[in-house]
Amino acid sequence: MGHCPQGGRSVLDPHAGRYAARTAGMTASEIRALFAVASRPEVVSLAGGMPNLAALPLETIAAETARIIAEDGLTALQYASAQGLPVLREQICEVMSLEGVAAHPDDVLVTVGSQMGLDLVARLFCDPGDLVVAEGPSYVGALGSFAAYQAEVAHVAVDAHGLVPEGLRAALRQARNAGRRVKLLYTVPNFHNPSGVTLAVERRAEILEICRTHGVLVVEDNPYGLLGFDGRTHPALHSMDPENVVYLGSFSKTFASGLRVGWVLAPHPVREKLVLAAESATLCPPTLNQMIVSRYLATQDWRGQIAVFRENYRERRDAMLRALEDFLPPGCSWTEPDGGFYVWVKVPEGVNTKAMLPRAVDARVAYASGTGFYTNGLGARRMRLSYCYPSPERIREGVRRLAGVLEAEPALAPAFRPVAGLRERAPETV
Ligand SMILES: Cc1ncc(COP(=O)(O)O)c(C=O)c1O
Repeated sequence: MGHCPQGGRSVLDPHAGRYAARTAGMTASEIRALFAVASRPEVVSLAGGMPNLAALPLETIAAETARIIAEDGLTALQYASAQGLPVLREQICEVMSLEGVAAHPDDVLVTVGSQMGLDLVARLFCDPGDLVVAEGPSYVGALGSFAAYQAEVAHVAVDAHGLVPEGLRAALRQARNAGRRVKLLYTVPNFHNPSGVTLAVERRAEILEICRTHGVLVVEDNPYGLLGFDGRTHPALHSMDPENVVYLGSFSKTFASGLRVGWVLAPHPVREKLVLAAESATLCPPTLNQMIVSRYLATQDWRGQIAVFRENYRERRDAMLRALEDFLPPGCSWTEPDGGFYVWVKVPEGVNTKAMLPRAVDARVAYASGTGFYTNGLGARRMRLSYCYPSPERIREGVRRLAGVLEAEPALAPAFRPVAGLRERAPETV
């Protein structure tokens, strides 16, 4: 019999002997475990990645939703196509064209958030023991999906310009020498979660070429691509090699995460299999939510709304970077994102961000420890700080508290303190 936690207690699980072998890889992410404490009002949470929805035109959305139900309720409240509403798939193609993607609506599958897309891709491609190559660090939700299908993740180093091509080559060579099968490269090229960096345009073709040569399918996860602070977009990997890239998109960061509407764009044969897998998971994505998104895209200035979101996030990014500069002790360094939600911080030698977290929560600040973003135990000297949700004032206060916690760590006691002025600002890898 196994133990399972319940209300903080550990109780015997009478079903322990029955679970499928693949459940062994399913564990609560460190970040989810944090949610309960981090959401206490006295804690400044720099931990979660919740979009800041305050700028949404709620009354308009309410009126449009009421109209959908009043005028088209028998459709909106009914089952629909497993692939997603045709009109929405057409609009999704228009959204993707902003990043150079020329797609046909037939090759789009609407999903329940891009997280479902990740699950479907892992389900389709990963056998137990397969390797997936991914940035180190990587988005926890993707690591969870790969673990659920018993694939292993080999991390590739990331620097200020994103995934390092030479690191990718080395990882693929090493896998081949070890007789391991690499199925996928999973990558978040724009405003990466958690590192905040963006893959340099010059590296994109090189990475695609490496994957093509090694027979590795690219999974491009791009929920933040339209949230660049200067309003510029980068060419999607899909736009450069449509036959070898599966693209995951989402309305979670550009409209409303709670509607849970995302999509997958895939080469046609892959799309056909994805629809079958989606059908067995959900029958069809929620019709009403798809219609709300579709109506929003058709009747509202969604590009203008994204510009408002971008400005809100830019202001918060600035507050975060200023506070880090003002408060963090010498020996810390961090990335400077041009978009998205996250800063990735490196702390001085001897500090363990996972061990420090309870002390931070006592000091009423929360962050995501770096270890959750790796499958290989790395990340203890890293943490992810999200600036997307709190106000600029709260961000500053949170960083001030965090700096106090860091200063009190034994590794930063005066005898161990690095010489002031030796702050590392441009690390080789993040
Ligand atoms: C990189 C990345 N991929 C996917 C997701 C999941 O997004 P969705 O809400 O579309 O499921 C997130 C959410 O934070 C993310 O950061």
